[in-house]
Amino acid sequence: MKKSVCVLFGGMSSEHEVSLMTARSILDNIDRSLFDVYPVGITKSGRWLYFGGAPALLTDSGWESSGSTCPALPSPSVGDGLILHEPLGKRRVAIDCVFPALHGENGEDGAPQGLCQLAGIPCVGAGIGASAVAMDKDFTKAVVSRLGIRQAKYIAIERGGCDAQEAADRAEKILGGYPVFIKPASTGSSVGVSKAKNRQDFIDGLAHALEFDHKAIVEEFFDGREIEVAVMGNTDLNVSCCGEIIPGEEFYSYADKYVNALSSERIPADLPPETSDAIRKYAAEIYRELGCAGLSRVDFFVHKRTGEVCFNEINTIPGFTPISMYPKLFMHGGMSYPEIITRLITLACEG
Ligand SMILES: Nc1ncnc2c1ncn2[C@@H]1O[C@H](COP(=O)(O)OP(=O)(O)O)[C@@H](O)[C@H]1O
Ligand SMILES: [Mg+2]
Repeated sequence: MKKSVCVLFGGMSSEHEVSLMTARSILDNIDRSLFDVYPVGITKSGRWLYFGGAPALLTDSGWESSGSTCPALPSPSVGDGLILHEPLGKRRVAIDCVFPALHGENGEDGAPQGLCQLAGIPCVGAGIGASAVAMDKDFTKAVVSRLGIRQAKYIAIERGGCDAQEAADRAEKILGGYPVFIKPASTGSSVGVSKAKNRQDFIDGLAHALEFDHKAIVEEFFDGREIEVAVMGNTDLNVSCCGEIIPGEEFYSYADKYVNALSSERIPADLPPETSDAIRKYAAEIYRELGCAGLSRVDFFVHKRTGEVCFNEINTIPGFTPISMYPKLFMHGGMSYPEIITRLITLACEG
């Protein structure tokens, strides 16, 4: 029997637009002989709308005014499923699985995962706890430090916690001078990330990062190649080969990721076998330590001179278009894009 899958997209997130690209790819490629698909978009202002129009409308905000929407409420009450408020009346649809094609806050941080847990509906990917920890780069580092895997030295700074000059003093003392990287603790897609080459950059960059989150982290600069690994599974893990991102700009920025497309990638990454083996092993250890499920992309740096491996971050809902690193790494291993979607839904339903 076909399973009913609710694909959530958009969201109240600084990565709303990225989610639309992910969702479009999923809707275009999901195997409709296996799944009945119910796309539900969350507008930037937080309204939930069932969307019955063409997936092509998802690459801009056209879907909202397409005339193919109606209010949709996924009920937290077990057994209610999705309640559609259609022009002719209310309709209830039983949902077997939710696929959160959402990135960033209110998507990747445990919020929709919590709704699914309350409703008793399987949800693709990590659960509440792992999602929440992985979303916060400060908490992730604390958990990963238990594994003894190298990470960039860093400090966390709370909005209002100290003034910018004091923060700069601390960063200079602990991180040993510039350049440093400043990031909001909980965004993705390089939103709010900057490289500070001096004290003034630091002060500007910190204020910028704190516009996106109440907490920022400041890291020592690690002069590394960017290596990413895709992991799939609940208990038995499928760990992909290593892929390398070659940024088109000074670092792998939002513009580089989604606007200019100047970056390129190499799959598999050209690394000594012992380095790629170590990275793949670390990726699995980090995934397990955080309690991830379904999927995650685990990102590392490999020092350009010394070859030292440094963990950077983990993404529990990584970019997921057919040209994104996560699917590409498994496609390189012989899985098709629709097959990856099917497997993730199956893993969610296995729980
Ligand atoms: N400590 C660092 N040293 C050097 N480059 C960094 C460092 N931290 C981040 N970067 C650069 O910034 C990019 C975005 O940072 P990242 O931590 O991956 O945040 P996001 O979650 O937004 O992707 C990285 O892909 C890398 O190019
Ligand atoms: Mg990143």
